[in-house]
Amino acid sequence: MKIAMIGGGYVGLVSGACFAAFGATVTLVEKEEHRLASFQRGDIPLYEPGLDALFTEQKAHNRLTFCGNIAEGLQKAEIVFIAVGTPARRGSGYADLNYVYAAAREIAEAATHDLLIVTKSTVPVGTGRKVHDIVKSLRPDLDISVASNPEFLREGQAISDFMNPDRVIIGLDRKTHDKGEKAKALLTALYHPLDHLGSKLVFMELESAELTKYAANAFLAMKVTFANEIADICEVTGADSDEVHHAMGLDPRIGPDFLTPGPGFGGSCFPKDTQALAVTARKAGTPSQLVETTIASNEDRKRRLAEKILTFLGDDLTHTRTVAILGLTFKANTDDMRQSPSLTLLPLLHEAGVSLRVYDPYGMSQAKALLPREVYFAPDALGALKGADLLVILTEWEEFLHIQPSELQASMKGRIIVDYRGLWKNKELPSYGFTYHCIGKKTKLP
Ligand code: NAD
Ligand code: UGA
Repeated sequence: MKIAMIGGGYVGLVSGACFAAFGATVTLVEKEEHRLASFQRGDIPLYEPGLDALFTEQKAHNRLTFCGNIAEGLQKAEIVFIAVGTPARRGSGYADLNYVYAAAREIAEAATHDLLIVTKSTVPVGTGRKVHDIVKSLRPDLDISVASNPEFLREGQAISDFMNPDRVIIGLDRKTHDKGEKAKALLTALYHPLDHLGSKLVFMELESAELTKYAANAFLAMKVTFANEIADICEVTGADSDEVHHAMGLDPRIGPDFLTPGPGFGGSCFPKDTQALAVTARKAGTPSQLVETTIASNEDRKRRLAEKILTFLGDDLTHTRTVAILGLTFKANTDDMRQSPSLTLLPLLHEAGVSLRVYDPYGMSQAKALLPREVYFAPDALGALKGADLLVILTEWEEFLHIQPSELQASMKGRIIVDYRGLWKNKELPSYGFTYHCIGKKTKLP
């Protein structure tokens, strides 16, 4: 089967490479020139474990090709996926659908034969229907139908999520003359290589598929936020959040996932999708208090974390206080800096006069453009620790696990560690003279 993928970001590139591995012939259309040139050279401009090898393999087999022109991408394609960005609109927080509608218009203008357009981007309920109207008004001569296939992959484990999904959601337009049956058959054939996993395809109405994506992301964001609030209660009451969350997760009605507390959820999706769902709900006249509180609690958390660090540093302003930060990305195993908690926390510390020394294994080049220019970007973790009064761990990169207490002693000036990922909870830090503040636990003093 020949398909076109519009947009070569995290989702378009991973989905395109995985569909190629399923046996489809994929043409990825990317309009950003540098990105396209990099694909054509054989480089991928983002960090996602395993993607390099899959990309190289599928490119070598000619199952994955790239172009900048939709007309070229659509040649002989039976399905065209829209995988462009849907960022939060400044001000309102609603999803910016300009890229989606522009792609729909470009597809309609370039199409030469009947097609199925599938939105893979996360789009508010009702968007697929609007895409259909745009395309129909521009090309009444063709039979172009729409479907929704929201993507549930996580950055950092995107390929295994795509290849072993819990479910594949497919929203069909039942208002067409064939009641969506042709779209169903095409998508069933495309996902056929997943048959060995059992029946993973879940068919539903177009609108239900669109809303399922937001409901799932908002629920997970809410679960993380709840875990964070419980961790805060643990810290002051002497309960241990590892024990509490583990025991909660044993109840199958709750489940163990997404109960690990941290510095607040970030990333390109939870923050924007919770905002967009809140706006959708308000517009529909049924505001979601839970979603709105989740957003507010998460924002507040990052500010409170900055205040906590300043309290640990004390109010002796006779010398410049230096803080080392390990980890800048919103989670480990990605270079994505979008809405990372570090982007709120670090400017607050900088404004309070703190000197910052930072290190992240993959996020530094994206972070440099987003953080105050006075921030020192160290070449490695130990370089960031040099002379620091206090160390904060913000991202759970595995390489930080290997840092030894003796190395901390030799590099740092101060003896305070604030571990917002609980990464070093098994290290004997107090016996090396460190005050160790671990998320969800009472502070351990030397
Ligand atoms: P992204 O911003 O990283 O990439 C989008 C790409 O599309 C960019 O490279 C851009 O240049 C390109 N593009 C935009 N308009 C185009 C056009 N008309 N023709 C060709 N190329 C065009 O976005 P992303 O992170 O891949 O996310 C895409 C969508 O998938 C969003 O709706 C997002 O919410 C959703 N999603 C993302 C993830 C994730 O982990 N990043 C996971 C699931 C769903
Ligand atoms: C999330 C969803 O998990 C995916 O299913 C979805 O496809 C994607 O959004 C999307 O729509 O784009 P992602 O943003 O890659 O995936 O990352 P997650 O692993 O979900 O983490 C999101 C944030 O929550 C991170 O900041 C992470 O550190 C935080 N988190 C997650 C915790 O603090 N604790 C947890 O237990 C889990």
